[in-house]
Amino acid sequence: MNTELTILDRQLTLHRFPANKNETLQAWDAGDEYLIHHLEEMALADNQHILVLNDHFGALSCWFSTRHRITVMSDSFIAHQGILNNLKHNHCPEVTCLTTMDAIPDDVNIVIMQIPRNNRHLVWQLSQLRQQIPSHCQVIAVNKARDIHTSTLALFERYLGQTHTSLAWKKHRLVFSQPDAAPVCVASEIEWSVDGEAIQLHNLPNVYSGESLDQGARFMLQHLPRDPKIQNIIDLGCGNGVLSVKLGQLNPEATLTCIDESYMAVASAQKNLQVNLGNDRQTHCLANNCLDGFDGANTDLVVCNPPFHQQQAITDHIAWQMFCDAKHVLCKTGKLMVIGNRHLRYDVKLARLFGKSHVKTVAGNKKFVILEATKS
Ligand SMILES: C[S@@+](CC[C@H](N)C(=O)[O-])C[C@H]1O[C@@H](n2cnc3c(N)ncnc32)[C@H](O)[C@@H]1O
Repeated sequence: MNTELTILDRQLTLHRFPANKNETLQAWDAGDEYLIHHLEEMALADNQHILVLNDHFGALSCWFSTRHRITVMSDSFIAHQGILNNLKHNHCPEVTCLTTMDAIPDDVNIVIMQIPRNNRHLVWQLSQLRQQIPSHCQVIAVNKARDIHTSTLALFERYLGQTHTSLAWKKHRLVFSQPDAAPVCVASEIEWSVDGEAIQLHNLPNVYSGESLDQGARFMLQHLPRDPKIQNIIDLGCGNGVLSVKLGQLNPEATLTCIDESYMAVASAQKNLQVNLGNDRQTHCLANNCLDGFDGANTDLVVCNPPFHQQQAITDHIAWQMFCDAKHVLCKTGKLMVIGNRHLRYDVKLARLFGKSHVKTVAGNKKFVILEATKS
């Protein structure tokens, strides 16, 4: 797998995060290369302040940091770690690393952007840019040509300003936009209540399933345990924290820990725990890669609705990592509860890890199955 990005006689060595011995995926894509070529052709004067939005693993931040001042904004903890590691590895100057909840700096000269997968997140970023940067500051975005729809360009036109696109190159296209549209105010949160439950959820723009409840989570809510012996619970990949809120209601004495790699998910979960359970509960909400750095053998219950995506890649390695980490943190007789689509066959993975006789099916329907693995 190629780790050397070479453009115009310059080379960077780039790795994804977390490091994976059998990695098959590159740490950059043709969209990064297209943006780099384009900006090099623009021959910008040195020391411009470049705002980089949604850099995947630091290709853009590393490349431009040697001649410019870089602020990079991303909602992903994994991207932050990838960017920081690659900057260090390539001996690049420091950059300012922000989340997409932070304020956009007001002295930016040019903005480059990997278009995010989630349209609500895109709209949020475009509206924030429109409010913060002057109308002469160009925004150049990139994505796979097949993912830039007429509706995507309509969002750029509505929330940012005049927009046109480049020709396709290696199946990617650039989107050029000028922040001159009439500003549209976009609320940072969407709030809704869960049918049949006393749960009110606040959802920041990039939180998973932020506009309606995930079907898997809905099924899981009906089967979460009430057990006074449960003292420590971890919600791994918590999203808006809906599973933790319900577990907190069922188990009023338990300590709740919510983990997600999205900063917006963690902030949403924190607010939802507070709003639904009050201020006196023992809760911890943390942006992290799975349970990296967690102590072993001190948790009674881990609940997990695993993701199918890690950054831009569709993968099941992250589910495996989550199950391994859950086993590590569970105390003896502690339980991991997992929900997944039937076809994903998480039962096979759990049996490999916990032993077949320690894995049972809690419930199932046509689409989903809820499994429970007990640490022996
Ligand atoms: C299918 S969603 C489940 C969200 C929520 N628990 C629910 O049931 O609605 C999976 C979550 O895992 C998070 N995630 C993805 N990769 C992660 C990682 N490496 N470490 C921690 N969380 C991760 C995603 O951001 C997403 O919020």
